[in-house]
Amino acid sequence: MNIAIIGSGGREHALCEKILESKKVNKVVCIPGNGGTEKIAQNLKIDILDFPVVLKNIKKLKIDLVIVGPEEPLVYGIVDFLRKKKIKVFGPNKFAAKLEGSKGFMKNLCKENNIPTAGYKICKKMSDIKLFVKNNKFPIVVKADGLAAGKGVVICKNLMQLNNVSKQIFLGKFKSSKKLVLEEFIDGEEASYFLIVDKNNFSFFGTAQDHKRVGNGETGPNTGGMGAYSPAPIISKAIEKKVLNKIIKPTLNFFKRKNKHYTGFLYAGLMIKHNEPYLIEYNVRMGDPECQVILPRIKSELINIIENAVENNLKKIKINWFKKICMTVVLCSKGYPGTYKKNLIISNLEKIKNKKNVQIIHAGTLRKKKKFISNGGRVLNITALGENINEVKKKIYKLLKNINWKDGFYRTDIGWRLFKK
Ligand code: AMP
Ligand code: GLY
Repeated sequence: MNIAIIGSGGREHALCEKILESKKVNKVVCIPGNGGTEKIAQNLKIDILDFPVVLKNIKKLKIDLVIVGPEEPLVYGIVDFLRKKKIKVFGPNKFAAKLEGSKGFMKNLCKENNIPTAGYKICKKMSDIKLFVKNNKFPIVVKADGLAAGKGVVICKNLMQLNNVSKQIFLGKFKSSKKLVLEEFIDGEEASYFLIVDKNNFSFFGTAQDHKRVGNGETGPNTGGMGAYSPAPIISKAIEKKVLNKIIKPTLNFFKRKNKHYTGFLYAGLMIKHNEPYLIEYNVRMGDPECQVILPRIKSELINIIENAVENNLKKIKINWFKKICMTVVLCSKGYPGTYKKNLIISNLEKIKNKKNVQIIHAGTLRKKKKFISNGGRVLNITALGENINEVKKKIYKLLKNINWKDGFYRTDIGWRLFKK
C-alpha cells in the first residue's frame, strides 16, 4: 500500500513511524512532513490547503489511503473534497469537523444533547457580555469561536481583562472568528480521551495528560503542549463509563441522526471534578504531543486499524495494547511560546543512535545540507516507553542531556502527577 500523511508536526512523524512498522506498506508520502519524516519517508512540499494540488499529487503518486493529521484541512473540508474524487481518506467530514472548528457549534450540541460541559454564552458584540458577567463569578473563560492555533482561549481574572480580550476578538484578532464563547471556569484535573470512529462503531484509542504551561510547576503562558504521558490514571473505569455514556455516545448519535456520520480520530478534552467528567473541548484529530505517547503503546498494526475504520469494519478487529507507560518531553527553541529564532542547527542529533523504546520524534525541524535545523517553537519530542515512570523519565532526560542543544530548553518536571500518586 502507498500511504499519504498530511501534516508536518510530531504527531505526523509518530504516525509515519508506526505505519512503517507494517509489511504491507510500500511507501509513505508526508505532505509536507518535517526533518524526521524525510529520513524515513518521502516529503512533498505543497500547500495542504490547496486541495486540487493535493489531489493531483495523490493521483500521480498512486496513493491508496490518505491520513489527515491536523485540524485545518479537516475544518476546510479536505475529506469531503477527496471522497468526491473517489480517494480513500481517513478523517471526519466538514460538518463533523465543526466540533473543533466552531466552539459555539460544539457548545450548542452539548446543550441540545445534555452533555456535561461548562455553562456558556455565545456573544456577537460587547453588550452580549454583560448578562453573563452579572450571573457568573470570575475567573471567566473567553474563547474565540473559530480555529486559533491553540491561542484562542484566555482565562480572565477580572472584568478589565475580559473586556480587552473580547474586544480584540470582535475586532478580528483571529480571522476565523468574530464571535466568542464565554464559559464558566471548571476547577478540576484535565485529561484527554481518544477514540477511533467509523460509521457504525468506535474503539478506545487511549488516554493521556498533557502539560500546557511553558514552565515547571505549571507556570508561565500556555503552549501547544510541553510534554505528555499515557495512560492517564485519573480516567478510571468508572469515569470512562461516564465519558462514554454522557459525552461520546450522545455526540456520535447526533451525527448519525443527521446522516453526517462522524469518522476518524476523536479527541475529547475533559475536566474531571468530584469524579464527574465535563467536556472542555472536542478535537477532530489526534493530539500533539498526545499521539506520540499513545502510538508506542499500541501492539496492533496501526495501518490495519485505520484501514478497517475507513471500511467501517472496526467491529471486526481488536486493538491490543502494551501494559506500559509512555512519556514524551518537548524540546523547544529558546523564546517559545513568544518569539524565537528558526534555522538553528541541532548539531548533536546526527550522532545519536536510535535505542529500543526511546524515540526522537521530530516536530519543528527541517533537513538542509545533511543537517537538522529548527523550523518551529516545539522542535523535538523525546519519547520513551517503559514499565514505570522512573525508568521512562530517566531515559528521556538522559537523551536530552546528550542532545545538549544550546538554543533549546525543556521542562524538567513532566509527569509530576504520576510521582504524587
Ligand atoms: P481549549 O482550547 O478549549 O481546550 O482550552 C484551552 C485550555 O484552557 C484547556 O486545555 C484548559 O486547560 C483551559 N480551559 C478551557 N475551558 C475551560 C473551562 N471552562 N474551565 C477551566 N479551564 C478551561
Ligand atoms: N496537545 C493539545 C492538542 O493537540 O490540542
